[in-house]
Amino acid sequence: MKKSIFNRIFIYMSILIFIIAGFIVLMVEFFLDDFYYKSQENTIQKFAGDISDHYDASSGDMDEILSDYAENLGMTLQIISERGQVLYSSNGQELSGSMRNMMNMMMGQGRFYRMNSSIEQDWLIFNQELSDGSYLVVRTGYESFQRAIDALKRFVIYLLIPIFVLSLAVIYPLSRGISRPLIELNKVAQKMKKLDFKTRYTVSSQDETGQLGQTLNELTVKLENTIMQLKEELDKEKNLDKMRREFVARVSHELQTPLAVIEGYIEAIEDKVYVKEHDMEKAYKVISSEAEKISKMTQDLLDLSQLESGSYKLHKRRFNYSDLVRQVYEKYVSSKRDMIVEFKLNMDSVNEFYVDGDEFRLEQVLNNLLNNAFNHVSEGGKIEISVEANDEKLKTAVYNDGEKIRQEDLKFIWESFYKSNIQKEKKGVGLGLSIAKNIISLHDGKYEAENKDGGVSFSFEIKRSK
Ligand SMILES: Nc1ncnc2c1ncn2[C@@H]1O[C@H](COP(=O)(O)OP(=O)(O)OP(=O)(O)O)[C@@H](O)[C@H]1O
Ligand SMILES: [Mg+2]
Repeated sequence: MKKSIFNRIFIYMSILIFIIAGFIVLMVEFFLDDFYYKSQENTIQKFAGDISDHYDASSGDMDEILSDYAENLGMTLQIISERGQVLYSSNGQELSGSMRNMMNMMMGQGRFYRMNSSIEQDWLIFNQELSDGSYLVVRTGYESFQRAIDALKRFVIYLLIPIFVLSLAVIYPLSRGISRPLIELNKVAQKMKKLDFKTRYTVSSQDETGQLGQTLNELTVKLENTIMQLKEELDKEKNLDKMRREFVARVSHELQTPLAVIEGYIEAIEDKVYVKEHDMEKAYKVISSEAEKISKMTQDLLDLSQLESGSYKLHKRRFNYSDLVRQVYEKYVSSKRDMIVEFKLNMDSVNEFYVDGDEFRLEQVLNNLLNNAFNHVSEGGKIEISVEANDEKLKTAVYNDGEKIRQEDLKFIWESFYKSNIQKEKKGVGLGLSIAKNIISLHDGKYEAENKDGGVSFSFEIKRSK
């Protein structure tokens, strides 16, 4: 048989019932006779006491009273004089010889005797002295006792059989009831072991099992979340690792390109290819712009490594944030003039907003977001900077029309070196947003990237200074 909790409860309970039944049988077998005799003796004694109290030989209706008693008791009553004469007998009989001898031996001692005579049957005899010196003798046959006792014993045994069957019928559903929640709990735990967190325990009681089920359910949720988080972290880690390796290749490539251009132009200058002043100037411009690219990239790398290592200290002071946003906006308006885009600034022009922070770094955040917006804006699309304020905070958002960012990229977009796949061919190494994220975090701010209707919006929220 399977070692299930149900089987165990069922078997233990059955054994218990069996033991109780056995105990009852033993008690009946060994103690019922004595118990029955004792209780009969008590009854006789009580009646005898009663008769003795009310006995009056001179009373005319004593015979009637005595026969009433005899009838009630269902036994033989006799009153015997000191000399052994039968004064009254409920069955009208005289004493037999053996009985008379017996009487003489134990006259009036108020005790029970069990007599075994060949002529008479076994008798239980009680003998008590009365007030006038005569004796009351109560007699009853053992045989009738024994019949009653045997009938009672049989009855108890017969009664035990249906009780036993009935108990089994009750124990079965009872064992099921007790074991079911445990079996269910076990199922949930087994599933958990196999990392299946779909199954939940249905809590149907407030007892310890119910509480355990509740705890198990909570544990399942926690475990599921933790494992999911771990998986995400692992995915992220794997992805970032890949990104870092790609980054080394990309940085080398990105540095190589402007260096190659510079090298080419310098060789041409050395070979005196450019004769005209105008061509020469153009060559210097290209060299200078390529050198600037190299400089920006190395600066970004330096910034990021400082910000990420925590060695960077903000230079905080209270400054006019509205002014900063306006300056950055103006700079882009003039430098990106040639782009055919609608470029708007949406900011309260009446109230000035102040921030307690690192102005230079916050400008860098705005620059990075705007660079991205200009890099990704669709042709003829719109770019909009908006600054919203409440009493406590300032939320700055940079929106651009253009292709949406894939959902799976949104999670990683703020990580360093991360570049969404669709954008791989575009310029940049994937440091801008990571630098922005670090700066915002150092200002205890929040940042977010969202896909909006027709484009994307990057926003951040920082504390406003009064
Ligand atoms: N406005 C935007 N629209 C669409 N995708 C964007 C936008 N801004 C950023 N991204 C995506 O996020 C990636 C990370 O941006 P991030 O600014 O960190 O790097 P980058 O612009 O590629 O390079 P860097 O800024 O270092 O020159 C980009 O490669 C691009 O895939
Ligand atoms: Mg960028």
